[in-house]
Amino acid sequence: MSLFLGHTPVIGTAQAAWDLLEKRSDVYSSRPRFIVAGEILSDNQRGLMMPAGEGWRKFRRVYHAGFHSRKSNTYRDIQSLESKLLMHQLSHEPEGYEGHIKRYAASVVVSVSYGKRIDSVDEFIVKENMNSMASCDLLTDAWDPGTCPPCWSATVLAENDKLGLDDTGLAYTLSSPFGAGIETTSATLFVFIREELHSGPASFWLTESVPVAMVHFPEAMCKAQAELDTVVGQDRMPEFQDAENLPYVRALINEVLRWRPVAVLGGTPHASTADDEYNGMFIPKGSTVFANLDGIMRDPETFPNPEAFLPERWLPGSALCSTHPRLQLDTFDLPFGFGRRICPGQHLASNSIFINTARMLWAFDILPKKDAPLPDPWAFTDGFNSWPMSFECRIEVRSARIRDCIEREWETAKEALEKWQ
Ligand code: HEM
Repeated sequence: MSLFLGHTPVIGTAQAAWDLLEKRSDVYSSRPRFIVAGEILSDNQRGLMMPAGEGWRKFRRVYHAGFHSRKSNTYRDIQSLESKLLMHQLSHEPEGYEGHIKRYAASVVVSVSYGKRIDSVDEFIVKENMNSMASCDLLTDAWDPGTCPPCWSATVLAENDKLGLDDTGLAYTLSSPFGAGIETTSATLFVFIREELHSGPASFWLTESVPVAMVHFPEAMCKAQAELDTVVGQDRMPEFQDAENLPYVRALINEVLRWRPVAVLGGTPHASTADDEYNGMFIPKGSTVFANLDGIMRDPETFPNPEAFLPERWLPGSALCSTHPRLQLDTFDLPFGFGRRICPGQHLASNSIFINTARMLWAFDILPKKDAPLPDPWAFTDGFNSWPMSFECRIEVRSARIRDCIEREWETAKEALEKWQ
């Protein structure tokens, strides 16, 4: 169902979102006015909030150059190394999993953007960026491009003659992954962990007198682990090259992204730049258009039995799999928005989510805290982006062989990470 609330259409089906925001992207690619955060405090320099126009197109060009699919794959090395550190931290201090995951996401963004990694989210470069986002101020002079490995900022600075961004535009553009890429990536991994709690061993789950729909959940983690044990074994970690042989793991990831999308309202709303009509409904120029991703992902016409967590709905050949070409194992991009505004960091994000989900499933059993109720599957934060409220769980290494492997991999990763310090 789609609602039209005055000048604020709320799109509730994938098809309506594709019809309007993609097929008619010449009309629906702008943003509404963000008077305080966008205009007064940032002088309209924040790409995420910029209306369609030359400034925003420049912003997208810079992003495309740094984060298109093939370019994003060149960041896999640092993602894999940081992920080995994450597995090591999770195995030694599992109760601190939220901090470890946030550190991972922040370090990847800092390394890729500025060529310098971080060991803690309390480091200067993270804190200053976070503060400057909060006060809509600028971070300058904190980094010397001559002293680090190749990165997005160094490339953009080297090519800025062609792009023609002034210092302020450069600073806003190059710092934007901070706002857009850290919370979204870590929140998706928190949803994954929350989900695995609800998909623990069947015997546990059934004794908790759960809602009927949830009886579909129990086997997901075990099935993914069985696939990983067969394809990867327990003496090496899953790598990016394993992805094509891990369809169930990839299906599970799609289902995590569908079951509780982090960008609940499609990230930032779009705005229309001309009068339009859709299915007999008039949409005036200047409308604020929300793509209600939370509703879209639970539309029973598109995703039957939407509350059930069913990775099988993404497996080719499964009776549950949609016939729609955009809803296949390798084509599902609804979580990243629509049309010309689609998330430009989606490939970097997808790589982070794949490598960490595969490795966490391979390495750990994710179990509820003993003698405590399962976390409420609906306890999420408010806002344009939404993530699970903090919850406790047990993250236990699955075997001695896996523990040895995590230690071995960490020893070599430690050295390789030094060039990013
Ligand atoms: C799981 C992780 C992520 C999710 C779910 C996500 C989702 C989204 C969504 C739904 C939008 C709005 C699209 C629209 O308006 O139709 C968006 C926009 C955006 N995202 Fe992401 N994102 C993620 C990670 C990232 C990362 C890692 C980066 C940076 C490297 C990034 C950079 C951006 C930017 C700059 C925009 C604004 C684009 C524009 O307005 O033209 N995102 N994202």
